[in-house]
Amino acid sequence: MLSKSIEKALNDQIRIEAESSQIYLAMACWAEVKGLEGVAGFMYSQSNEERDHMLKLIKFVNERGGHAHISALNAPNVTFESFKEMFEKLFEHEVFVSESINNLVHISLQEKDYATHNFLQWYVSEQIEEEAMARTILDKINLIGNDKGGLYLFDRDIVNLTVNSASMDNPE
Ligand SMILES: [Fe+2]
Ligand SMILES: [Fe+2]
Repeated sequence: MLSKSIEKALNDQIRIEAESSQIYLAMACWAEVKGLEGVAGFMYSQSNEERDHMLKLIKFVNERGGHAHISALNAPNVTFESFKEMFEKLFEHEVFVSESINNLVHISLQEKDYATHNFLQWYVSEQIEEEAMARTILDKINLIGNDKGGLYLFDRDIVNLTVNSASMDNPE
C-alpha cells in the first residue's frame, strides 16, 4: 500500500513523464517540418518511450492501492533556434528527469517503502542510459557545427542510434 506522500510523488513523476513525451513529440514535429526525417523518427520513438515510462508508473500506482492521476500538462516548446539547441534542451531535460527520479528514490527510502524503492531502480538505470545517449548526440552535434553535409549524415545515422537504444531496453 502506498502512503499518501509516495502516491503524490509518483503522480508528479507520471506528469513529468507525460510532459517528456509531449516535449519530444514537439521536437519530432519541428525536425520533420525541417526535413530531417532521421531526427524526427528518433524523437517520435523517444516520445513513445516516455509514454511507456508514464504507463509503467500508472500501473504501479494503481496496483499498489493508489490512484494514478492524469493531469493537465505544461505546453512544450515547439520551435528551436537550431538542432544544437534542440538537443541541448533534450539533454537538460533528461538531467532534470534524473534529479526527479533521485528525489523519488530518496523519499521512498525515507518512508521505508522498499517496494517502491525496488520499482524505481529500473528508472535509475534508464536515466543513466538516456543521459549517456543525449550526451553522445550532443558531442556529435558539436562536432558537426554548421556543416550541412555533416547534418545530412547525422540525420541518416541517428536511425541506428534509435535501433540500438530500443534493443537495449527490455520491452516491459
Ligand atoms: Fe522517462
Ligand atoms: Fe527520458
